[in-house]
Amino acid sequence: MRPYGIPCAFALSIVTALLLGASTDGIEIRHIENNAENIAARKRASNENISPDENHKQFWYDAGNNLLRKKLNLERQYGVAKNVIFFIGDGMSIATLASARIYMGQQQNNTGSEKEMLSFEKFPFTGLSKTYCVDSQVADSACSATAYLTGVKGNIETIGVSGAVSNRDCLASNEPTNQAVSSMLWAQRMGKRTGVVTNMRVTHATPAGAYASVAQRNWECDDDVMIDKLADKLCATKSPDIARQLIERETGRNLNVIMGGGRAKFFPKTDKDEQNHQGQRRDGRNLIKEWLEINRTSRASSVYVTDRSQLKSVNTSDTDYLLGLFASSHMSYNLLANKSVEPTLVEMTEAAIEVLNKGDNGYYLFVEGGNIDWAHHSNKAQLALDETVMLSKAVGRAVELTSRVDTLIVVTSDHSHTMTMNGYPHRGSDILGHPMIASSDNMPYSTLSYANGPSAKERYNLTDDKTGMCYRGK
Ligand SMILES: *[C@@H]1O[C@H](CO)[C@@H](O)[C@H](O)[C@H]1NC(C)=O
Ligand SMILES: *[C@@H]1O[C@H](CO)[C@@H](O)[C@H](O)[C@H]1NC(C)=O
Ligand SMILES: *[C@@H]1O[C@H](CO)[C@@H](O)[C@H](O)[C@H]1NC(C)=O
Ligand SMILES: *[C@@H]1O[C@H](CO)[C@@H](O)[C@H](O)[C@H]1NC(C)=O
Ligand SMILES: *[C@@H]1O[C@H](CO)[C@@H](O)[C@H](O)[C@H]1NC(C)=O
Repeated sequence: MRPYGIPCAFALSIVTALLLGASTDGIEIRHIENNAENIAARKRASNENISPDENHKQFWYDAGNNLLRKKLNLERQYGVAKNVIFFIGDGMSIATLASARIYMGQQQNNTGSEKEMLSFEKFPFTGLSKTYCVDSQVADSACSATAYLTGVKGNIETIGVSGAVSNRDCLASNEPTNQAVSSMLWAQRMGKRTGVVTNMRVTHATPAGAYASVAQRNWECDDDVMIDKLADKLCATKSPDIARQLIERETGRNLNVIMGGGRAKFFPKTDKDEQNHQGQRRDGRNLIKEWLEINRTSRASSVYVTDRSQLKSVNTSDTDYLLGLFASSHMSYNLLANKSVEPTLVEMTEAAIEVLNKGDNGYYLFVEGGNIDWAHHSNKAQLALDETVMLSKAVGRAVELTSRVDTLIVVTSDHSHTMTMNGYPHRGSDILGHPMIASSDNMPYSTLSYANGPSAKERYNLTDDKTGMCYRGK
Protein backbone atom coordinates (compact mmCIF):
# COMPACT_ATOMS: atom_id res chain seq x y z
CA MET A 1 0.00 0.00 0.00
CA ARG A 2 1.23 3.48 -0.74
CA PRO A 3 1.80 5.68 2.29
CA TYR A 4 -0.24 8.39 0.60
CA GLY A 5 -3.34 7.97 -1.51
CA ILE A 6 -1.78 9.53 -4.62
CA PRO A 7 1.59 8.90 -6.23
CA CYS A 8 4.31 11.02 -4.74
CA ALA A 9 5.52 12.43 -8.05
CA PHE A 10 2.12 14.01 -8.35
CA ALA A 11 2.43 15.24 -4.77
CA LEU A 12 5.67 16.98 -5.62
CA SER A 13 4.05 18.80 -8.48
CA ILE A 14 1.32 20.00 -6.15
CA VAL A 15 3.89 21.44 -3.81
CA THR A 16 5.68 23.14 -6.67
CA ALA A 17 2.44 24.59 -7.86
CA LEU A 18 1.68 25.87 -4.36
CA LEU A 19 5.00 27.63 -4.23
CA LEU A 20 4.35 29.29 -7.58
CA GLY A 21 1.11 30.66 -6.26
CA ALA A 22 -1.33 28.69 -8.40
CA SER A 23 -4.66 27.65 -7.02
CA THR A 24 -4.81 23.90 -6.40
CA ASP A 25 -7.35 22.90 -3.81
CA GLY A 26 -9.31 26.10 -3.67
CA ILE A 27 -6.94 28.01 -1.40
CA GLU A 28 -4.88 30.58 -3.18
CA ILE A 29 -1.48 31.38 -1.75
CA ARG A 30 0.12 34.46 -3.18
CA HIS A 31 3.18 36.22 -1.90
CA ILE A 32 1.93 39.73 -2.38
CA GLU A 33 0.82 42.44 0.01
CA ASN A 34 -2.44 44.00 -1.08
CA ASN A 35 -3.93 45.08 2.24
CA ALA A 36 -4.01 48.88 2.31
CA GLU A 37 -3.58 49.10 6.09
CA ASN A 38 -0.48 46.89 5.98
CA ILE A 39 1.00 48.90 3.13
CA ALA A 40 0.43 52.17 4.99
CA ALA A 41 1.85 50.75 8.23
CA ARG A 42 4.99 49.58 6.49
CA LYS A 43 5.48 52.94 4.81
CA ARG A 44 5.09 54.81 8.11
CA ALA A 45 7.50 52.38 9.73
CA SER A 46 10.12 52.95 7.04
CA ASN A 47 10.13 56.66 7.76
CA GLU A 48 10.28 56.25 11.52
CA ASN A 49 12.37 53.17 12.17
CA ILE A 50 14.95 52.76 9.48
CA SER A 51 18.18 54.65 9.24
CA PRO A 52 18.43 56.27 5.76
CA ASP A 53 21.88 54.63 5.42
CA GLU A 54 20.15 51.34 4.90
CA ASN A 55 18.82 52.59 1.57
CA HIS A 56 22.32 52.77 0.12
CA LYS A 57 24.12 49.81 -1.36
CA GLN A 58 27.42 50.88 0.15
CA PHE A 59 26.03 50.52 3.66
CA TRP A 60 25.51 46.81 3.12
CA TYR A 61 28.81 46.27 1.31
CA ASP A 62 30.58 47.94 4.24
CA ALA A 63 28.66 45.91 6.79
CA GLY A 64 29.61 42.67 5.02
CA ASN A 65 33.25 43.64 4.58
CA ASN A 66 33.64 44.81 8.16
CA LEU A 67 32.30 41.55 9.52
CA LEU A 68 34.49 39.52 7.20
CA ARG A 69 37.58 41.54 8.13
CA LYS A 70 36.81 41.09 11.82
CA LYS A 71 36.55 37.33 11.40
CA LEU A 72 39.74 37.10 9.37
CA ASN A 73 41.69 39.17 11.89
CA LEU A 74 40.48 37.19 14.86
CA GLU A 75 43.35 35.83 16.87
CA ARG A 76 42.75 32.11 17.33
CA GLN A 77 43.28 30.57 20.77
CA TYR A 78 44.97 27.20 20.67
CA GLY A 79 45.59 24.72 23.50
CA VAL A 80 43.42 23.69 26.40
CA ALA A 81 41.22 26.19 28.23
CA LYS A 82 41.95 26.50 31.94
CA ASN A 83 38.44 27.67 32.77
CA VAL A 84 35.15 26.71 31.17
CA ILE A 85 31.82 28.47 31.60
CA PHE A 86 28.90 26.65 30.04
CA PHE A 87 25.61 28.55 29.67
CA ILE A 88 22.31 26.89 28.76
CA GLY A 89 19.29 28.89 27.74
CA ASP A 90 16.67 26.26 28.51
CA GLY A 91 14.17 26.01 25.65
CA MET A 92 15.98 28.87 23.90
CA SER A 93 15.04 28.21 20.27
CA ILE A 94 16.30 30.11 17.23
CA ALA A 95 12.99 32.05 17.09
CA THR A 96 13.53 32.98 20.76
CA LEU A 97 16.91 34.47 19.89
CA ALA A 98 15.56 36.43 16.92
CA SER A 99 12.67 37.90 18.88
CA ALA A 100 14.70 38.48 22.07
CA ARG A 101 17.24 40.64 20.27
CA ILE A 102 14.43 42.79 18.86
CA TYR A 103 12.80 42.92 22.31
CA MET A 104 16.12 43.99 23.84
CA GLY A 105 16.45 46.91 21.42
CA GLN A 106 12.83 47.93 21.86
CA GLN A 107 13.25 47.98 25.66
CA GLN A 108 16.02 50.53 25.06
CA ASN A 109 13.74 52.49 22.69
CA ASN A 110 16.28 51.91 19.91
CA THR A 111 14.99 52.30 16.39
CA GLY A 112 15.79 49.58 13.92
CA SER A 113 16.34 47.16 16.78
CA GLU A 114 16.27 44.21 14.39
CA LYS A 115 20.02 44.95 14.06
CA GLU A 116 20.70 44.28 17.77
CA MET A 117 22.81 41.35 18.86
CA LEU A 118 22.65 39.41 22.10
CA SER A 119 26.02 39.28 23.87
CA PHE A 120 26.73 35.75 22.74
CA GLU A 121 25.66 36.41 19.15
CA LYS A 122 28.90 38.38 18.92
CA PHE A 123 30.98 35.29 19.76
CA PRO A 124 33.51 34.28 17.09
CA PHE A 125 32.23 30.74 16.48
CA THR A 126 28.72 29.45 15.97
CA GLY A 127 27.34 25.99 15.24
CA LEU A 128 24.13 24.04 15.30
CA SER A 129 23.62 20.69 16.94
CA LYS A 130 21.13 17.94 16.31
CA THR A 131 19.20 16.79 19.38
CA TYR A 132 17.22 13.64 20.15
CA CYS A 133 17.23 11.09 22.93
CA VAL A 134 17.51 7.30 22.93
CA ASP A 135 13.74 6.82 23.09
CA SER A 136 12.49 10.22 21.95
CA GLN A 137 12.51 12.36 18.80
CA VAL A 138 12.33 15.52 20.90
CA ALA A 139 14.67 15.90 23.86
CA ASP A 140 13.36 17.07 27.22
CA SER A 141 15.61 18.98 29.62
CA ALA A 142 16.51 15.74 31.43
CA CYS A 143 17.83 13.54 28.62
CA SER A 144 19.40 16.53 26.89
CA ALA A 145 21.25 17.48 30.12
CA THR A 146 22.55 13.91 30.24
CA ALA A 147 23.80 14.30 26.66
CA TYR A 148 25.61 17.63 26.93
CA LEU A 149 26.92 17.16 30.49
CA THR A 150 28.01 13.52 30.30
CA GLY A 151 28.42 12.84 26.58
CA VAL A 152 25.95 9.93 26.74
CA LYS A 153 22.39 9.87 25.40
CA GLY A 154 19.70 8.37 27.66
CA ASN A 155 15.92 8.08 27.76
CA ILE A 156 13.47 10.95 28.13
CA GLU A 157 12.83 12.05 31.76
CA THR A 158 15.94 10.21 33.01
CA ILE A 159 19.07 12.05 34.13
CA GLY A 160 22.72 10.96 34.21
CA VAL A 161 22.02 7.39 33.18
CA SER A 162 22.38 5.49 29.91
CA GLY A 163 19.52 4.18 27.78
CA ALA A 164 19.77 0.92 29.76
CA VAL A 165 17.73 2.68 32.47
CA SER A 166 14.09 3.07 31.52
CA ASN A 167 11.89 5.76 33.03
CA ARG A 168 11.31 5.10 36.80
CA ASP A 169 13.54 2.00 36.96
CA CYS A 170 15.34 3.14 40.12
CA LEU A 171 17.20 -0.13 40.70
CA ALA A 172 18.77 0.06 37.24
CA SER A 173 19.78 3.67 37.94
CA ASN A 174 21.68 2.50 41.06
CA GLU A 175 23.98 0.35 38.92
CA PRO A 176 27.30 2.14 38.43
CA THR A 177 27.63 0.62 34.96
CA ASN A 178 24.44 2.46 33.93
CA GLN A 179 25.48 5.80 35.40
CA ALA A 180 26.95 8.39 33.03
CA VAL A 181 29.70 10.38 34.75
CA SER A 182 29.18 14.14 34.67
CA SER A 183 31.82 16.43 33.19
CA MET A 184 31.67 18.20 36.60
CA LEU A 185 33.37 15.14 38.08
CA TRP A 186 35.95 15.05 35.27
CA ALA A 187 36.80 18.66 36.14
CA GLN A 188 36.90 17.96 39.90
CA ARG A 189 39.32 15.09 39.31
CA MET A 190 41.56 17.51 37.41
CA GLY A 191 41.63 19.68 40.54
CA LYS A 192 39.29 22.31 39.13
CA ARG A 193 36.72 24.15 41.19
CA THR A 194 33.18 23.52 40.00
CA GLY A 195 29.83 25.26 40.27
CA VAL A 196 26.20 25.12 39.19
CA VAL A 197 23.94 28.18 38.92
CA THR A 198 20.29 28.24 37.83
CA ASN A 199 17.10 30.22 38.38
CA MET A 200 15.12 26.98 38.59
CA ARG A 201 15.18 24.65 41.60
CA VAL A 202 18.77 23.41 41.91
CA THR A 203 17.29 19.90 41.82
CA HIS A 204 15.42 20.52 38.54
CA ALA A 205 16.31 18.46 35.44
CA THR A 206 18.94 20.72 33.88
CA PRO A 207 21.12 21.42 36.95
CA ALA A 208 20.62 17.83 38.17
CA GLY A 209 22.40 16.68 35.00
CA ALA A 210 25.57 18.11 36.55
CA TYR A 211 25.60 15.78 39.57
CA ALA A 212 22.76 13.21 39.64
CA SER A 213 21.88 9.81 38.19
CA VAL A 214 18.16 9.23 38.47
CA ALA A 215 15.47 7.25 36.65
CA GLN A 216 12.83 10.02 36.82
CA ARG A 217 13.44 13.78 36.74
CA ASN A 218 10.57 14.63 39.11
CA TRP A 219 12.10 12.67 42.00
CA GLU A 220 13.72 15.77 43.47
CA CYS A 221 12.99 14.68 47.06
CA ASP A 222 11.55 11.53 48.70
CA ASP A 223 8.05 13.01 48.84
CA ASP A 224 8.11 13.44 45.04
CA VAL A 225 8.60 9.68 44.69
CA MET A 226 5.74 8.93 47.09
CA ILE A 227 3.29 11.20 45.24
CA ASP A 228 4.31 9.86 41.81
CA LYS A 229 1.39 7.56 40.93
CA LEU A 230 3.51 5.54 38.52
CA ALA A 231 6.46 5.07 40.89
CA ASP A 232 7.38 1.94 42.79
CA LYS A 233 7.27 3.43 46.31
CA LEU A 234 10.35 1.45 47.26
CA CYS A 235 12.28 3.86 45.04
CA ALA A 236 11.86 6.52 47.77
CA THR A 237 14.24 4.56 50.00
CA LYS A 238 16.08 2.22 47.62
CA SER A 239 17.52 5.00 45.49
CA PRO A 240 18.56 8.46 46.68
CA ASP A 241 16.40 11.38 45.46
CA ILE A 242 18.08 14.23 43.57
CA ALA A 243 18.50 16.52 46.62
CA ARG A 244 20.13 13.70 48.55
CA GLN A 245 22.49 13.00 45.66
CA LEU A 246 23.54 16.67 45.67
CA ILE A 247 24.56 16.40 49.35
CA GLU A 248 25.72 12.76 49.53
CA ARG A 249 27.44 11.83 46.29
CA GLU A 250 30.97 12.77 45.32
CA THR A 251 30.15 15.16 42.45
CA GLY A 252 27.45 17.09 44.33
CA ARG A 253 29.35 17.31 47.62
CA ASN A 254 32.41 18.66 45.88
CA LEU A 255 30.64 21.46 44.01
CA ASN A 256 32.08 24.75 45.25
CA VAL A 257 29.04 26.73 44.15
CA ILE A 258 25.37 25.72 44.12
CA MET A 259 22.88 28.53 43.55
CA GLY A 260 19.23 28.70 42.53
CA GLY A 261 15.84 27.91 44.04
CA GLY A 262 14.30 24.79 45.55
CA ARG A 263 14.78 25.04 49.33
CA ALA A 264 11.70 22.91 50.09
CA LYS A 265 13.37 19.80 48.67
CA PHE A 266 16.07 20.02 51.34
CA PHE A 267 14.25 20.04 54.69
CA PRO A 268 11.32 18.29 56.45
CA LYS A 269 7.62 18.85 55.84
CA THR A 270 7.30 19.61 59.54
CA ASP A 271 9.62 22.64 59.34
CA LYS A 272 9.41 26.09 57.79
CA ASP A 273 12.13 28.15 56.12
CA GLU A 274 13.17 31.80 56.51
CA GLN A 275 10.25 32.93 54.37
CA ASN A 276 7.76 30.75 56.22
CA HIS A 277 7.49 28.15 53.46
CA GLN A 278 7.05 24.52 54.39
CA GLY A 279 9.64 21.87 53.55
CA GLN A 280 8.84 18.78 51.49
CA ARG A 281 11.00 15.97 52.85
CA ARG A 282 9.42 12.96 54.55
CA ASP A 283 12.65 11.43 55.87
CA GLY A 284 13.11 14.15 58.49
CA ARG A 285 16.52 15.13 57.17
CA ASN A 286 17.76 18.70 56.88
CA LEU A 287 20.16 18.46 53.96
CA ILE A 288 21.17 22.13 54.20
CA LYS A 289 22.45 21.51 57.72
CA GLU A 290 24.15 18.33 56.52
CA TRP A 291 25.81 20.28 53.67
CA LEU A 292 27.20 22.81 56.15
CA GLU A 293 28.60 19.94 58.24
CA ILE A 294 30.41 18.18 55.41
CA ASN A 295 34.03 17.79 56.51
CA ARG A 296 36.12 19.78 54.09
CA THR A 297 39.86 20.37 54.08
CA SER A 298 40.96 22.29 57.14
CA ARG A 299 41.00 25.80 55.66
CA ALA A 300 37.83 25.56 53.60
CA SER A 301 34.89 27.73 54.56
CA SER A 302 31.26 27.00 53.68
CA VAL A 303 28.56 29.66 53.47
CA TYR A 304 24.79 29.24 53.08
CA VAL A 305 22.71 32.22 51.91
CA THR A 306 18.98 32.66 51.25
CA ASP A 307 18.54 36.17 49.85
CA ARG A 308 20.12 38.84 47.72
CA SER A 309 21.57 40.94 50.53
CA GLN A 310 23.18 37.89 52.13
CA LEU A 311 24.70 36.99 48.77
CA LYS A 312 26.00 40.56 48.37
CA SER A 313 27.69 40.38 51.76
CA VAL A 314 29.49 37.09 51.12
CA ASN A 315 33.23 37.65 51.09
CA THR A 316 33.84 35.61 47.94
CA SER A 317 37.62 35.71 48.28
CA ASP A 318 37.24 34.02 51.65
CA THR A 319 34.64 31.43 50.59
CA ASP A 320 35.39 27.97 49.21
CA TYR A 321 31.89 26.51 49.23
CA LEU A 322 28.77 28.59 48.60
CA LEU A 323 25.20 27.26 48.75
CA GLY A 324 22.52 29.80 47.82
CA LEU A 325 18.87 28.75 47.86
CA PHE A 326 16.84 31.87 47.11
CA ALA A 327 13.32 30.51 46.76
CA SER A 328 11.19 27.71 48.12
CA SER A 329 10.60 26.46 44.58
CA HIS A 330 11.75 28.01 41.27
CA MET A 331 13.11 31.54 41.43
CA SER A 332 10.81 34.26 40.07
CA TYR A 333 10.84 35.66 36.57
CA ASN A 334 13.20 38.61 36.45
CA LEU A 335 10.37 41.00 35.51
CA LEU A 336 8.25 39.87 38.46
CA ALA A 337 10.89 39.17 41.12
CA ASN A 338 11.14 40.99 44.43
CA LYS A 339 14.64 42.33 43.89
CA SER A 340 15.30 42.71 47.60
CA VAL A 341 14.85 38.97 48.05
CA GLU A 342 16.15 37.32 44.89
CA PRO A 343 19.45 38.01 43.16
CA THR A 344 19.48 38.14 39.34
CA LEU A 345 21.12 35.56 37.11
CA VAL A 346 23.82 38.16 36.45
CA GLU A 347 24.55 38.59 40.15
CA MET A 348 24.66 34.85 40.76
CA THR A 349 26.99 34.33 37.79
CA GLU A 350 29.27 37.08 39.04
CA ALA A 351 29.44 35.68 42.61
CA ALA A 352 30.04 32.16 41.24
CA ILE A 353 32.99 33.30 39.12
CA GLU A 354 34.48 35.14 42.11
CA VAL A 355 34.27 32.04 44.33
CA LEU A 356 35.59 29.72 41.63
CA ASN A 357 38.36 31.90 40.26
CA LYS A 358 40.99 30.92 42.82
CA GLY A 359 43.86 28.50 42.65
CA ASP A 360 46.02 27.35 39.76
CA ASN A 361 43.88 24.64 38.24
CA GLY A 362 40.99 26.69 36.94
CA TYR A 363 37.27 26.07 37.17
CA TYR A 364 34.18 24.77 35.42
CA LEU A 365 30.92 26.67 35.90
CA PHE A 366 27.53 25.62 34.53
CA VAL A 367 24.80 28.31 34.36
CA GLU A 368 21.20 27.72 33.34
CA GLY A 369 18.73 30.42 32.32
CA GLY A 370 15.82 28.11 33.05
CA ASN A 371 13.02 30.64 33.19
CA ILE A 372 13.13 30.99 29.39
CA ASP A 373 11.71 27.48 29.15
CA TRP A 374 9.31 27.98 32.01
CA ALA A 375 7.81 31.08 30.39
CA HIS A 376 7.49 29.34 27.01
CA HIS A 377 5.64 26.45 28.67
CA SER A 378 3.03 28.97 29.84
CA ASN A 379 3.09 30.82 26.47
CA LYS A 380 4.34 33.98 28.18
CA ALA A 381 6.40 35.32 25.31
CA GLN A 382 7.44 38.60 26.94
CA LEU A 383 8.78 36.79 30.01
CA ALA A 384 10.64 34.29 27.82
CA LEU A 385 12.26 37.11 25.83
CA ASP A 386 13.10 39.08 28.96
CA GLU A 387 14.73 36.00 30.50
CA THR A 388 16.73 35.52 27.29
CA VAL A 389 17.97 39.10 27.61
CA MET A 390 18.91 38.34 31.24
CA LEU A 391 20.91 35.30 30.09
CA SER A 392 22.59 37.52 27.50
CA LYS A 393 23.53 39.95 30.28
CA ALA A 394 24.91 37.13 32.45
CA VAL A 395 27.04 35.94 29.53
CA GLY A 396 28.18 39.53 28.91
CA ARG A 397 29.23 39.84 32.56
CA ALA A 398 31.14 36.53 32.36
CA VAL A 399 32.96 37.81 29.28
CA GLU A 400 33.95 40.98 31.18
CA LEU A 401 35.20 39.03 34.20
CA THR A 402 37.34 36.57 32.24
CA SER A 403 39.95 36.50 29.50
CA ARG A 404 39.58 34.55 26.29
CA VAL A 405 43.25 33.63 26.62
CA ASP A 406 42.44 31.05 29.31
CA THR A 407 38.63 30.81 29.46
CA LEU A 408 36.25 29.06 27.10
CA ILE A 409 32.64 30.29 27.21
CA VAL A 410 30.01 28.16 25.50
CA VAL A 411 26.38 29.24 25.18
CA THR A 412 23.77 26.86 23.90
CA SER A 413 20.29 25.49 24.36
CA ASP A 414 18.85 22.06 25.09
CA HIS A 415 15.67 22.00 23.01
CA SER A 416 13.22 24.36 21.33
CA HIS A 417 9.68 25.47 22.00
CA THR A 418 6.84 26.00 19.57
CA MET A 419 6.96 29.79 19.58
CA THR A 420 7.30 31.08 16.03
CA MET A 421 7.80 34.53 14.55
CA ASN A 422 5.07 34.79 11.92
CA GLY A 423 4.08 36.65 8.83
CA TYR A 424 5.74 39.82 7.56
CA PRO A 425 5.70 42.34 10.42
CA HIS A 426 7.19 45.68 9.38
CA ARG A 427 10.47 47.03 10.76
CA GLY A 428 10.09 48.53 14.22
CA SER A 429 6.76 46.84 14.96
CA ASP A 430 6.26 45.87 18.59
CA ILE A 431 7.63 42.34 18.80
CA LEU A 432 4.92 41.57 21.36
CA GLY A 433 2.14 43.11 19.26
CA HIS A 434 -0.14 42.26 16.35
CA PRO A 435 0.89 44.88 13.80
CA MET A 436 -0.37 43.31 10.56
CA ILE A 437 -3.65 42.13 9.06
CA ALA A 438 -3.90 38.68 7.50
CA SER A 439 -5.04 39.02 3.88
CA SER A 440 -6.89 35.69 4.06
CA ASP A 441 -9.45 36.89 6.63
CA ASN A 442 -8.64 40.55 7.35
CA MET A 443 -8.00 39.73 10.99
CA PRO A 444 -4.90 40.96 12.85
CA TYR A 445 -2.36 38.29 13.76
CA SER A 446 0.35 38.43 16.41
CA THR A 447 3.97 38.32 15.33
CA LEU A 448 4.71 35.69 17.97
CA SER A 449 2.52 32.66 18.42
CA TYR A 450 2.64 29.21 19.98
CA ALA A 451 1.67 25.90 18.40
CA ASN A 452 0.85 24.40 21.80
CA GLY A 453 0.10 25.43 25.38
CA PRO A 454 -2.56 27.43 27.19
CA SER A 455 -2.87 30.28 24.66
CA ALA A 456 -4.75 28.06 22.18
CA LYS A 457 -8.35 29.24 22.06
CA GLU A 458 -9.73 26.08 20.56
CA ARG A 459 -8.41 22.54 20.11
CA TYR A 460 -9.40 20.64 17.04
CA ASN A 461 -9.67 16.83 17.11
CA LEU A 462 -7.47 15.61 14.28
CA THR A 463 -7.73 11.90 15.05
CA ASP A 464 -9.31 11.13 11.66
CA ASP A 465 -7.19 13.58 9.64
CA LYS A 466 -4.47 12.32 7.37
CA THR A 467 -1.56 14.64 8.04
CA GLY A 468 0.84 13.60 5.26
CA MET A 469 1.98 16.11 2.65
CA CYS A 470 -0.60 15.06 0.05
CA TYR A 471 -3.62 15.89 2.16
CA ARG A 472 -5.17 18.92 3.69
CA GLY A 473 -7.83 18.02 6.29
CA LYS A 474 -10.22 15.11 6.00
C1 LIG B 1 11.43 54.10 26.57
O1 LIG B 1 10.28 54.91 26.38
C2 LIG B 1 9.30 54.76 27.38
C3 LIG B 1 8.05 55.51 26.96
O2 LIG B 1 8.38 56.80 26.54
C4 LIG B 1 9.87 55.23 28.72
O3 LIG B 1 8.93 55.08 29.74
C5 LIG B 1 11.10 54.41 29.04
O4 LIG B 1 11.73 54.87 30.21
C6 LIG B 1 12.11 54.44 27.90
N1 LIG B 1 13.18 53.48 28.17
C7 LIG B 1 14.46 53.77 28.03
C8 LIG B 1 15.44 52.68 28.37
O5 LIG B 1 14.87 54.86 27.66
C1 LIG C 1 33.36 15.43 60.57
O1 LIG C 1 34.50 15.30 61.37
C2 LIG C 1 34.20 15.30 62.76
C3 LIG C 1 35.52 15.34 63.53
O2 LIG C 1 36.44 14.45 62.95
C4 LIG C 1 33.37 14.07 63.10
O3 LIG C 1 33.03 14.05 64.47
C5 LIG C 1 32.08 14.14 62.27
O4 LIG C 1 31.31 12.98 62.47
C6 LIG C 1 32.40 14.29 60.80
N1 LIG C 1 31.16 14.58 60.11
C7 LIG C 1 30.78 13.94 59.01
C8 LIG C 1 29.45 14.35 58.44
O5 LIG C 1 31.42 13.06 58.48
C1 LIG D 1 37.65 39.05 52.68
O1 LIG D 1 38.53 37.99 52.95
C2 LIG D 1 39.89 38.30 52.70
C3 LIG D 1 40.68 37.00 52.86
O2 LIG D 1 40.44 36.41 54.09
C4 LIG D 1 40.32 39.40 53.64
O3 LIG D 1 41.66 39.75 53.38
C5 LIG D 1 39.42 40.63 53.42
O4 LIG D 1 39.73 41.62 54.38
C6 LIG D 1 37.96 40.24 53.56
N1 LIG D 1 37.13 41.35 53.16
C7 LIG D 1 36.15 41.82 53.91
C8 LIG D 1 35.39 42.96 53.35
O5 LIG D 1 35.89 41.35 55.01
C1 LIG E 1 9.92 42.33 48.98
O1 LIG E 1 10.38 41.55 50.04
C2 LIG E 1 10.59 42.29 51.23
C3 LIG E 1 11.27 41.38 52.23
O2 LIG E 1 10.55 40.20 52.40
C4 LIG E 1 9.26 42.82 51.72
O3 LIG E 1 9.45 43.58 52.89
C5 LIG E 1 8.65 43.70 50.63
O4 LIG E 1 7.37 44.08 51.02
C6 LIG E 1 8.57 42.93 49.32
N1 LIG E 1 8.18 43.84 48.26
C7 LIG E 1 7.15 43.57 47.46
C8 LIG E 1 6.88 44.58 46.41
O5 LIG E 1 6.49 42.56 47.56
C1 LIG F 1 -11.46 12.49 18.67
O1 LIG F 1 -11.95 11.81 17.55
C2 LIG F 1 -11.94 10.39 17.67
C3 LIG F 1 -12.36 9.78 16.35
O2 LIG F 1 -13.55 10.37 15.91
C4 LIG F 1 -12.83 9.97 18.81
O3 LIG F 1 -12.77 8.56 18.96
C5 LIG F 1 -12.32 10.62 20.08
O4 LIG F 1 -13.18 10.33 21.15
C6 LIG F 1 -12.24 12.11 19.91
N1 LIG F 1 -11.61 12.67 21.10
C7 LIG F 1 -12.12 13.63 21.82
C8 LIG F 1 -11.37 14.05 23.03
O5 LIG F 1 -13.18 14.18 21.51
